[in-house]
Amino acid sequence: MSIFKRKKAKEQPESAALPQHVALIMDGNGRWAKKRGLPRSAGHRAGAENFKKIVRYASARGIRYLSVYAFSTENWNRPQEEVSTLISLFIQYLDEALRDFVGENIRVRFMGETDRFPQDLQDLIARVEETSHDRTGMTLNVCLNYGGRCELKDAMQKIARRVQSGELVPEQITEQTISDSLYCPDEPDPDLIVRPSGELRLSNFLLWQSAYSELVFMDVLWPDFGPEQFDEAIAEYQKRSRRFGAIR
Ligand code: FPP
Repeated sequence: MSIFKRKKAKEQPESAALPQHVALIMDGNGRWAKKRGLPRSAGHRAGAENFKKIVRYASARGIRYLSVYAFSTENWNRPQEEVSTLISLFIQYLDEALRDFVGENIRVRFMGETDRFPQDLQDLIARVEETSHDRTGMTLNVCLNYGGRCELKDAMQKIARRVQSGELVPEQITEQTISDSLYCPDEPDPDLIVRPSGELRLSNFLLWQSAYSELVFMDVLWPDFGPEQFDEAIAEYQKRSRRFGAIR
């Protein structure tokens, strides 16, 4: 259930459009396992199964872009055994995704410094991106070794190199220059960011792109976040009045 207060009927926004870009923080796998007396790895496996289910559902609902936070730049600080479990799950589920997402016409892209992962996962990432590149349905961004600050640092380095080569002078750097230097510059910013698990923070996710995203926090752990909860988050979004700093 969302922690945000419901709007009164007369305050309904003029449009109840479907968000074009939804971003999901897949949190709560560990707590889900603990509640059942299972190892954390069982929670991550259940989370990975749910990842496939929700990707399919979002595509069926007509979402154009879905971004999922699967592994942050800070997640390397977990015990080595848990990191290895997660990497094995990424390999297994991305390999399945190569086949499974064909029917849904889903394009898969990756955001993050993926060159820190073992070579077999890097090869798979390249294969998944290449194989799905020309698909015209929903675009799925899998954020792996992703951090919003790291993405901004990479963008700054790209821009600094352009300045250094004389292509750009500092006064020409605009907000658009920064947007254009991010990992997926051709995609719209997320309209809606959903975080299950009860935590109320962004945890370094899409820091630049989230400036005007609607945030929905839900008291459900990721493996239990099903189509019903996805619909609930969309319904909450559709009640919001988006003003982008203007008066309407
Ligand atoms: C956060 O929950 C979850 C993660 C760090 C891993 C998310 C990964 C998956 C759901 C697998 C996705 C698979 C693919 C192929 C993209 P947590 O472990 O921090 O939960 P806790 O806060 O309850 O401990």
